[in-house]
Amino acid sequence: MKKSSPLPSFPTPFLLLVSLLLHGSPSLADSVNDNFVQCLTNQTKDKVSNIVFSQTNASFTSVLQAYIRNARFNTSTIPKPSIIVTPLHESHVQATVICAKQIGIQIKIRSGGHDYEGISYISDIPFIILDMFNLRNITVDIESQTAWVQAGATLGELYYKIWEKSKVHGFPAGVGPTVGVGGHLSGAGYGNMLRKFGLSVDHVIDAQIVDVNGKILDKASMGDDLFWAIKGGGGASFGVVLSYKINLVQVPETVTVFGVQRFLEDNATDVVYQWQHVAPTIDDRLFMRMLLQPVTSKVKKGEKTIRASIESLFLGEANELVTILGKEFPQLGLKIENCTQMSWIESVLWWANFDNGTSPNALLDRNQNSAKFLKRKSDYVQTVIPKDGLEGIWKKMIEVGKVGFVFNPYGGKMSEIQASDTPFPHRAGNLFKVQYSVTWEEGGVEEEKDYITQTRSLYSYMTPFVSKNPRSAYLNYRDLDIGVNHYGKDSYEEGKVYGSKYFNGNFDRLVKVKTAVDPDNFFRNEQSIPTLQTKA
Ligand SMILES: Cc1cc2nc3c(=O)[nH]c(=O)nc-3n(C[C@H](O)[C@H](O)[C@H](O)COP(=O)(O)OP(=O)(O)OC[C@H]3O[C@@H](n4cnc5c(N)ncnc54)[C@H](O)[C@@H]3O)c2cc1C
Ligand SMILES: *[C@@H]1O[C@H](CO)[C@@H](O)[C@H](O)[C@H]1NC(C)=O
Ligand SMILES: *[C@@H]1O[C@H](CO)[C@@H](O)[C@H](O)[C@H]1NC(C)=O
Ligand SMILES: *[C@@H]1O[C@H](CO)[C@@H](O)[C@H](O)[C@H]1NC(C)=O
Ligand SMILES: *[C@@H]1O[C@H](CO)[C@@H](O)[C@H](O)[C@H]1NC(C)=O
Ligand SMILES: *[C@@H]1O[C@H](CO)[C@@H](O)[C@H](O)[C@H]1NC(C)=O
Ligand SMILES: *[C@@H]1O[C@H](CO)[C@@H](O)[C@H](O)[C@H]1NC(C)=O
Ligand SMILES: *[C@@H]1O[C@H](CO)[C@@H](O)[C@H](O)[C@H]1NC(C)=O
Repeated sequence: MKKSSPLPSFPTPFLLLVSLLLHGSPSLADSVNDNFVQCLTNQTKDKVSNIVFSQTNASFTSVLQAYIRNARFNTSTIPKPSIIVTPLHESHVQATVICAKQIGIQIKIRSGGHDYEGISYISDIPFIILDMFNLRNITVDIESQTAWVQAGATLGELYYKIWEKSKVHGFPAGVGPTVGVGGHLSGAGYGNMLRKFGLSVDHVIDAQIVDVNGKILDKASMGDDLFWAIKGGGGASFGVVLSYKINLVQVPETVTVFGVQRFLEDNATDVVYQWQHVAPTIDDRLFMRMLLQPVTSKVKKGEKTIRASIESLFLGEANELVTILGKEFPQLGLKIENCTQMSWIESVLWWANFDNGTSPNALLDRNQNSAKFLKRKSDYVQTVIPKDGLEGIWKKMIEVGKVGFVFNPYGGKMSEIQASDTPFPHRAGNLFKVQYSVTWEEGGVEEEKDYITQTRSLYSYMTPFVSKNPRSAYLNYRDLDIGVNHYGKDSYEEGKVYGSKYFNGNFDRLVKVKTAVDPDNFFRNEQSIPTLQTKA
């Protein structure tokens, strides 16, 4: 509707079908369904009736909503898929790719559904959701310190399965236990061990993917380029990731966490200023996340202030931590009584905000069908923001109203890995990543507009303080504000707008891989890697 020619690489019958569907012909929608199901039946030996949910199926809505993780996209006006396929076996994924291609319909691949812009389950053109939640086996082998993890597993399940087998192993990945492996690892993945161990993809040693021809490839058969691409370039541009093989990391039996808060009234500005020097350079076993939030002051009635909260994980004991911080960050005034020692799995629960004493079983809770309203954006800071710069930022945050920041310190292992080793380029030279974060509980159209405008206003204000040429961003903090692709004749240029932000100098290699493995651009979304088009 909005787009005159969104899919130049698709055959004409498909465009005809799309235009008919867009003009709302129920009989055609039915025939998509019939053709697809028939094709699927032909392609697999199994009964397909239990893996296909058409719009008329009584469970369609609950299956769709189960992995919507941003309430902004849980409304009746959001476009719905023609069909949801929920594979129980790898061969069902192969069949889905072959049949979607055959009838010429787009697929959106969903693992954990945490995409901040919902692009794993929404599309402007007719589409099918390939929902991976049933494919979630995890096989941990402590002897070789490796694991195979299927794409539909959550990070919480992965942490739990490692903990079941060993109390001194872990994996460096995100702090949200319901985040899906498929999106998280294909988009890089980081968490509170990033300064010691780098990103999740720095520990990926093999993978299985279904390519555009419906073939299952592993590292050896897909080749170095494609294997490189699916370690941070976003899986959805290249195929369907079935599983990753990862190296586990060793964690101490005892780790230490602490959380401290400061307000502007008790020198938060000094602490944040100093944090910028210390957090990216201190002992790499220490990760100190800084959260900044405009709040109502407790001491100055009716006034707004900024709360700076530091949440930390130290891969070691409290005594040593207090000694290190006393030397390097005396402004913080951290004492032993501010620290809690625990096992690594308990620290996972602590970071996920579970109450003290919660059983690790809580990590298995997929927490289906519940979500708040979210908008996120990202930036990278490469030079320390001076105190007067911080003071201006506080004023702007208070003026804007609700948007907060999460500063995630880099350095350590992150600086030791080359920018071209994986598609994720934001390594040496970055002090910290900034996440713009606004979350709200109840949504009307007006609230949404207001909060999104707020994030854009703060983002614009931050321009002088963040990376330039390009202004970088993190793929897994999906943000459609930084560019979308319409796949017309300018698709390379359109792709370069967001692609150079997410991937910097790695963008062109990703385009080459994409052009080689999926020349007709079957696997695509609003921000996927474009092909190099030689023909219009
Ligand atoms: C509450 C919350 C906490 C988060 N915490 C962190 C964090 O600590 N660290 C961090 O790095 N990020 C974090 N994120 C961001 C998260 O890493 C990304 O949203 C990630 O892409 C989610 O993966 P998913 O499988 O859940 O998402 P999905 O929405 O299912 O997928 C995201 C993208 O990956 C594609 N995709 C999914 N599965 C596959 C597959 N099997 N094959 C090919 N393509 C696939 C989708 O099509 C889509 O483009 C968080 C997000 C949320 C909402
Ligand atoms: C399914 O297979 C039958 C028999 O081989 C064939 O006639 C039919 O065209 C196939 N249908 C689809 C949708 O591929
Ligand atoms: C809905 O779809 C599921 C999965 O394919 C199937 O098992 C079920 O029988 C369908 N229900 C109806 C009423 O069609
Ligand atoms: C998952 O693991 C179980 C037990 O090992 C196995 O029976 C099953 O086939 C596996 N499922 C998939 C989809 O790999
Ligand atoms: C440490 O704990 C003490 C006692 O609870 C508290 O008064 C102090 O503010 C805490 N220090 C920090 C840095 O939070
Ligand atoms: C804030 O800084 C002032 C001046 O350096 C100092 O006197 C005061 O004790 C500090 N307050 C806190 C809570 O650290
Ligand atoms: C958690 O609970 C245990 C036992 O119930 C207690 O010893 C410990 O101090 C608690 N820790 C915190 C941080 O409250
Ligand atoms: C989506 O909306 C339905 C009501 O229509 C609600 O029951 C469900 O919890 C919501 N899910 C999410 C993820 O917001």
